[in-house]
Amino acid sequence: MRPSTVAIFIISVGAGLGAAGCGEPEDGDDDVVTGPTWYRDVAPLLAEHCMTCHSDGGIAPFSMESYEVAAPAAAMMLEAVESGAMPPWDAESADDCSPRHAWKDDMRLSASEIQLLRDWIATGKQEGTAAEIPEPPSLALDRVSHTATPSTPYTTTGSADEFICFILDPGVTRLSWLTGVEVVPGNPKVVHHVVLVGYRAGAALDADIAANGIGRPFECNGGVLTREDTFLMGVWTPGSQPFETPGDLGLPVPAGTKVLMQMHYHPGGATTNLPDASTVNLRLETSRPINTYTITAVGNAATTPTLLSGPGDRTGTPEFRIPAGATNHVESMRFPLSGLPAGKFRLFAAYPHMHYIGVELSVQVEHPLNGGGVDRECLVNVPRWNFDWQRTYQYDAPIAALPAISNGDTLIVRCSYDNSLANPFVRRALEEAGLVEPIDVRLGEESLDEMCLGIFGIVVEPTP
Ligand code: HEC
Repeated sequence: MRPSTVAIFIISVGAGLGAAGCGEPEDGDDDVVTGPTWYRDVAPLLAEHCMTCHSDGGIAPFSMESYEVAAPAAAMMLEAVESGAMPPWDAESADDCSPRHAWKDDMRLSASEIQLLRDWIATGKQEGTAAEIPEPPSLALDRVSHTATPSTPYTTTGSADEFICFILDPGVTRLSWLTGVEVVPGNPKVVHHVVLVGYRAGAALDADIAANGIGRPFECNGGVLTREDTFLMGVWTPGSQPFETPGDLGLPVPAGTKVLMQMHYHPGGATTNLPDASTVNLRLETSRPINTYTITAVGNAATTPTLLSGPGDRTGTPEFRIPAGATNHVESMRFPLSGLPAGKFRLFAAYPHMHYIGVELSVQVEHPLNGGGVDRECLVNVPRWNFDWQRTYQYDAPIAALPAISNGDTLIVRCSYDNSLANPFVRRALEEAGLVEPIDVRLGEESLDEMCLGIFGIVVEPTP
């Protein structure tokens, strides 16, 4: 992995609809008689926030579509919601880092919605009068213009997660602008997440096609994001809304671009390990939108001065090394911005990225103040990283109100890691690598290397 700022990539996916009003639960004794019911209150709430995954054929282990299944699981559901484990949504505000804007398509339940679930349980999980349960939010991208799918499906086996790539040809014959992306999993039971990388025409692409063919599976554990001539198009997560840009904003995609699709497969046993051929749908516009965007990553600093000293340094010089067994190991980096065109660059999407050992990640920006000192702004904060649920978060704000960076600002990226056997992801990574004890972990692209990246979608035209 190259040090310092890795230019290029990402974007993707939003998720379930935002919190919809769900009447405040009554309090007091009346609850026993008039408390919430399954059909009237609870099922519509779960349809909106949970059933994009917890439905028949969805990725989640159980369906919530019937009272008979959901009612006995109610306490477990409440616990998962209260603990923040469900729905999967890792970008959270904390006292020391809280972004200015809410996130678009935030799947999480509001406090009053959680209270509704609590009240339903407390009042005996009443079924109420049978009624149709609303459909979960549609996850289909509209106005799809280009589509591509593997010619040779892949069947995942064994118990270890697998990373498999396909080079796909969506048939981009002229310069176009990407405004929406989705993946339709062929076998939703095993597709855990998908990274879509645009691969520009050229010698590297030709060599890759000669080696791997088009539409055929090949192993590609790592390296997808940092290949030459590539740019991130999207990251797809199960149960999420398709990625769509806000307003008139598009990513330029040159003629001849192919899509490198990296599948993260999570094998589930003989009954679910059926062949997968997932489809990529793109919405490419043929006229240039008012604004274009680019994707830039900040982080992954390997050396001073951007990498700051930390606990693993052995020689007095900053070193990105997470010692075997370290439980609260921090790597911090500072990237002063200079040499950008004048004006402010607006950030509209954030995609935090680490590997298995990561625990926390935050990206902040320091804006210098006129009279001296700095104003610190939180761009994204992930207090509990979960490798399985990485995704792109979009700020819910018009372009003019988005967080901005400009010359003179400093980006601060901070990651913490738990490289001990207490971290279930360490156990999983070691098992996949055929190891039993943690090893020293360094910056790199393989599963047992680490990263510390904030990847951002940036509106290209600076604003005054
Ligand atoms: C984006 C897909 C998705 C959404 C949305 C989702 N779940 Fe899950 N859920 C899963 C998956 C997958 C699992 C299996 C464990 C895992 O992979 O984390 C799971 C597991 C669970 C479990 C088992 C215990 C646990 O914590 O692992 C409960 C309970 C649960 N979900 C409740 C909910 C509730 C309640 C909602 C809505 C408020 C919800 N889930 C929304 C995908 C989802």
